[in-house]
Amino acid sequence: MTSSVGPEGRLRVAGVDAVELAEEYGTPLFVYDEAHLRERCREAVAEWGEGVAYATKAFLCVAMAKLAYEEGMCLDVSTGGELHVALAAGVAPDRLVLHGNNKSEAELAAGLAVGVGRIVIDSFDEIDRIERLLALPAPGALFPADGSAPPSTAPPGRPKVLVRVTPGVEVHTHEFVRTGQDDSKFGFGLASGAASEAIARLRRLDAQGTIELVGVHCHIGSQVFAVDAFVQAIQVIADFFAPLGLSELVVGGGLGVAYVTGEEAPTMANWAGSVRRACRESGIPDSVRVTAEPGRSIVATAGMTLYRVGTIKDVPGYRTYVSVDGGISDNPRPVLYGSGYEAFLPRATAADRKRPIRLVGKHCESGDVVVSEGYVPADLAVGDILATPVTGAYGHSMASNYNKVPRAAVVFVAEGESRLVVRRETFDDLLRYDV
Ligand code: LLP
Repeated sequence: MTSSVGPEGRLRVAGVDAVELAEEYGTPLFVYDEAHLRERCREAVAEWGEGVAYATKAFLCVAMAKLAYEEGMCLDVSTGGELHVALAAGVAPDRLVLHGNNKSEAELAAGLAVGVGRIVIDSFDEIDRIERLLALPAPGALFPADGSAPPSTAPPGRPKVLVRVTPGVEVHTHEFVRTGQDDSKFGFGLASGAASEAIARLRRLDAQGTIELVGVHCHIGSQVFAVDAFVQAIQVIADFFAPLGLSELVVGGGLGVAYVTGEEAPTMANWAGSVRRACRESGIPDSVRVTAEPGRSIVATAGMTLYRVGTIKDVPGYRTYVSVDGGISDNPRPVLYGSGYEAFLPRATAADRKRPIRLVGKHCESGDVVVSEGYVPADLAVGDILATPVTGAYGHSMASNYNKVPRAAVVFVAEGESRLVVRRETFDDLLRYDV
């Protein structure tokens, strides 16, 4: 959002020269435009209203959790680890939504002990666990002793829960990130009757005063371009949801973003507007709080990765391979989902990109591709800083130490200043877990 081109064609973000950032913090480097992140959070709050949650799996560190919280978003955490980081960032527990298809007893106990705002129930086993935990005098006692969150001896309040339902809607996105179909590990199927059975069990617990059943949740998939898919899901869910008389409906995340030239994604307003309209037309009362859990659409376009070019290899008759100092360890998305990215030189943003290359990483396998069919300026040289935009979601969060490559650093830039929010891992960090 605050990107601009300086006089010599150099890329600036929030007034900071991108190549200088790479020199100062090293590469690979995740660079986030803080104003952009804040604007996306504000837009989500404006469009979806109270309760909209940032899906932290897309990108989480203390600074990001704080930012989303400051901007009025709740935070969706899907593991004990995400919960731990959000709490460490000072997010109020009642602003947290606890997710996960296999929440352990310890994770549930932690959520109950701190008093998370919502728990999204995903299985009958989870209902058993919650029942067991709430029957105990102090779930705080079950809290893991490894310091993963502040223990509490106070009896938990009545947790507010939602039931995750799979509507049987298949969206056009990569099969690994499709979640709304009947054949899914997530949630309770509508068609099979599992969803109704879960509601019946939770209603009994509600009547006993153990939990408070507040709503239904569904998430159809991620990187969805067709708003119609959400509309379709609402139409399916509405017949089930409306008669229940519950007060909350969460449509999950999934709004797609444009990664490469020519792609166009719906806006947050488009998404929220279509969902609200579909709810109204499907007989869901206006009093119901309809909200969402965007992840990618909050952070993807706010971030880019800076790499340094290490080798340029012409393979006659085939192609030119340009290797950078990261790859599958900081961006596994191309190899996992065949995702596309652009690559360009921040020192020469306006230069014609006519030279076809394959951008690859430094890892020991041929699948370590960042951009399969990329174009760069003809004068690209060893030592250049190369940028791949739109890496703000599911890059840092899915990073690994493959080949013992230390994980990249993260900087936020705003108003002419940069600040390190996650430091680069060191070689010694790579030894921290060896005993
Ligand atoms: N809510 C639930 C319950 C989810 O499972 C997800 C994403 C979200 C919200 C956020 O969805 P988003 O707005 O980010 O699409 N690693 C994959 C994406 C996996 C998405 C998992 N669930 C990728 O890199 O494309």
